[in-house]
Amino acid sequence: MSHFVYRNDLLYAELVPLDQIAKSVGTPTYVYSRAALEEHWQEFKIGLSKLDASIRYSVKSNSNLAVLALMARLGSGFDIVSGGELERVIRAGGQPEQTIFSGVAKSREEIERALSVGIFSINLESYAELIRITEVAQALNLTAPISVRVNPNIDAKTHPYISTGLEENKFGVNVDEAIAIFRHAVQQPHLKVVGIAVHIGSQMTSLEPVVEAIDRIIDLAEQLADENIWISHLDLGGGLGVRYRDEQPPTIAEYCNAVQTAMNRRNCQIAVSIEPGRSITANAGVLLSQVEYVKSTEKKQFAIVDGAMNDLIRPALYDAWMEIVPVQLKQTGSGVYDIVGPICESADFFGKQRTLAIEPGDLIAVHSAGAYGAVMASNYNTRPKPAEVLVDGDQFDQIRSRETFDEILGNESIPVKLLK
Ligand code: LLP
Repeated sequence: MSHFVYRNDLLYAELVPLDQIAKSVGTPTYVYSRAALEEHWQEFKIGLSKLDASIRYSVKSNSNLAVLALMARLGSGFDIVSGGELERVIRAGGQPEQTIFSGVAKSREEIERALSVGIFSINLESYAELIRITEVAQALNLTAPISVRVNPNIDAKTHPYISTGLEENKFGVNVDEAIAIFRHAVQQPHLKVVGIAVHIGSQMTSLEPVVEAIDRIIDLAEQLADENIWISHLDLGGGLGVRYRDEQPPTIAEYCNAVQTAMNRRNCQIAVSIEPGRSITANAGVLLSQVEYVKSTEKKQFAIVDGAMNDLIRPALYDAWMEIVPVQLKQTGSGVYDIVGPICESADFFGKQRTLAIEPGDLIAVHSAGAYGAVMASNYNTRPKPAEVLVDGDQFDQIRSRETFDEILGNESIPVKLLK
């Protein structure tokens, strides 16, 4: 019987068997390991211990309240991109003063809320946003701490959908525009210049782009210092890749080492933040699903499972390869299968041409599903969003109940005139 496992160069086993979780909570269900989440965070902490550095966990990769509470207990700060994520951080016991608000289009309400709760920094991404933040800060008679997100035009060498540091991407502003924004910002009584931010992409498997980005923002900080504009914080973003199949991403320790070396080489004493998401959560979670049917056509064999692209969209959206393993190892039912779900689209698959020994009723686990899994779930085909479970040694807690039809349908209504 396969226990809860995650892959990250080492194999870690929690003590609760996955079939026990499936029996108690049903499927599809995301299962996360507390030990794995904590270990990954601690690796960053240890790796950056020689720098004045803060880890701001990127909420978007896995925003379950329990996961955020766990991060808060470790002493983590947070990186958020919406008012909703800010509410999550607050309700999970996280500190707004340790939280960075990123994102290309913050609404007036989001800025108001962030300033009222004492956010550490709003990372603005355009001149227009600077104007809006200034107006809101003035109206509230507060000072807005701001950083400017720079788009350094560096190729993160990752999937185009998650590459964010190229000229053609919507993110950040170029260096010249950043300078103009800083010059303007220092004149504003309701703004406090905090720092420079950069985030060039996700699932990066090499360190060169990271180091290049650090160099560019240190260049900018030095240029600003020449004009008497003082930067007290460099936000290096997230983006460290993980192993899904046979990628060889740098380890967390190697990444931290590269950051430290880059800072030391430039003799830069400015405080830094990093915003890791995937590297903390991806390989701390699996999606558990049950085989409903096995179906053969002339060309293919399909294992149709009860999980679908609404539960985990990464294979459909990015053609992402995620490992799929049977929970019970057995000899019968071996074959080459496309693992597909019940949704009415051919994009509804978890994996193609996988050699597995499975039969109807068996459980499968999709590995590396702790990041950008549950958070990207939808109700497509009016399917309830999946349950989530946190395993902690020999115990487990359900940290999100399976959605009910009443919850899905509860905020829709039929105009009276259509009721006749
Ligand atoms: N900071 C900022 C400003 C970001 O935009 C992101 C991710 C992160 C930090 C965290 O990056 P990470 O350490 O997780 O790579 N849904 C896609 C990934 C989208 C990433 C968006 N930004 C996927 O499933 O691959």
